[in-house]
Amino acid sequence: MIRREFLLRALSAAAVSLSGRHALAQQNAHAMHDMSGMSGMQGMSDMPGMAKNATPQASTLAAPDALPSGAPLAALRTLVNESHAPGVFRATLVAQPEQHTLIPGHPTTFWQYGQGGDPPDSTAQLQGPVVGPLIDVREGDTVEIRFVNRLPQASTIHWHGLPVPPDQDGNPSDPVAPGASRVYRFTLPPGSAGTYWYHPHPHMMSAEQVFRGLAGPIVVRAAADPLAGWPERHLFFSDLKLASDGTIAPNDMMDWMNGREGQFVLVNGARRPSVVMATDERWRVWNGCNARYLRLSLDDGRAFTQVGTDGGLLGTPRENVTELLLAPGERAELIVSAGRRAVLTSAVYDRRKMAMAGGSLPAGAAIPLADVQSGPRAADTTHAATKLPATLREISPLGAPAAQKSVVFSEQMDMAAMHRPGASHNGMPAGMSFLINGASFDPQRVTLTSRRGEVERWSIANRTDMDHPFHLHGTQFQVIEREQDGVVTPEPYMAWRDTVNVQPGETVRIATVQQQAGRRMFHCHILEHEDLGMMGTLDVV
Ligand code: C2O
Ligand code: CU
Ligand code: CU
Repeated sequence: MIRREFLLRALSAAAVSLSGRHALAQQNAHAMHDMSGMSGMQGMSDMPGMAKNATPQASTLAAPDALPSGAPLAALRTLVNESHAPGVFRATLVAQPEQHTLIPGHPTTFWQYGQGGDPPDSTAQLQGPVVGPLIDVREGDTVEIRFVNRLPQASTIHWHGLPVPPDQDGNPSDPVAPGASRVYRFTLPPGSAGTYWYHPHPHMMSAEQVFRGLAGPIVVRAAADPLAGWPERHLFFSDLKLASDGTIAPNDMMDWMNGREGQFVLVNGARRPSVVMATDERWRVWNGCNARYLRLSLDDGRAFTQVGTDGGLLGTPRENVTELLLAPGERAELIVSAGRRAVLTSAVYDRRKMAMAGGSLPAGAAIPLADVQSGPRAADTTHAATKLPATLREISPLGAPAAQKSVVFSEQMDMAAMHRPGASHNGMPAGMSFLINGASFDPQRVTLTSRRGEVERWSIANRTDMDHPFHLHGTQFQVIEREQDGVVTPEPYMAWRDTVNVQPGETVRIATVQQQAGRRMFHCHILEHEDLGMMGTLDVV
């Protein structure tokens, strides 16, 4: 998008938006019902009628301290393996509405993954964090998960980052209807150990299903893990936007435009928990937020060591890391040393969110995520004495590419269409398009074709004014280099990833290879952008 063009359109469409506003609100309870309250409308507040009708939406949202904080970090629930056969992991995941009380006195109905068994009861007070149960499996395992959809919408489960067969990967083209169920079955190949997650991927409804609470962690363990002796800690970050009555607020137009960021960041389902460490630990961290970037750091300046990315361990540890940017969808493994009291913080990161009237919004403030403190040293301190191996595993470069692919992110805003009454679907405004190679996602269309087993070099260019995290299904890739303003920076370390941030004006080049024939998705992992069409289909032949 060209911002100046967007600005002009925004201004000329403002009058339309004012008269259409009430009709629009009645048409669709989900839809940008309170456009006058959108943050970032500085430029439009001098429009006639805009300021006097303004009801700041913030007043209907729960206060940023409405959720209690400081409780000990909750351990994730673990999905129980119902199989007794060696090498088989069999379980059921039921997606259904569940009530949890986070704001005292104001219960919230989340959509949650659970083990099943109990009849659905939306009035029951559920225990446990509002994060899907951890799927803890091993390389070589055959995983068989029955998915029961007790949501009022179609859904799928996508196994983010895992090399599962295309027809088992929860593509939008394979929906499970409300009330229906299906079995997902796949075998985890050697070398797939790493930190993954699962979430719904239905056509145009992924953002809503994730922000209502559907997402959970996966850990795949290696037969020989050089860090197996380290005590392990899991931090699953998610985002929550709550109205003051405890309901989950719908997306407003700014949420659709920039990706939704609520007033709360949860760690294993709770606001700012307290992490007590008896010794140095191996942390696995997940960014399960729809759109929020996390720039992890400890506020005492303490460095940590990064030992893994999305697809498992690095070749060699990266020591002395003082901050780590985790884009939506990304994961990492860290070695964190016990020490003084500190606040695990998401530092300021300016992802150049758009303002309604063009230009960018100011970057948000730093957010405290958790309080970290050291507890009494465990009697068994052997781990703390354990040295990190210099080599974690062998990662060889994928090698010379046999084919090239080009992916270009762009945006288009048509404010007139955006404000036309009734011109929205699922609360999703029309006229706001996020494009890949000039086109919005079309389930009938193949965007790119690859041959299986062939190494490819993809260049992903961001021709928009904001950051977008690129994600490719079905495989892990290696980032080769990044180019910005003609300056090419080779990636300084070897890693397997399935998600990589692309800054405005940047081109990221990756090496990748798909091993199985079938259709794969690739998209921006700001889920609102993905739902708005910033997604393509890769046909592997
Ligand atoms: Cu995590 Cu296509 O998604
Ligand atoms: Cu994915
Ligand atoms: Cu995006």
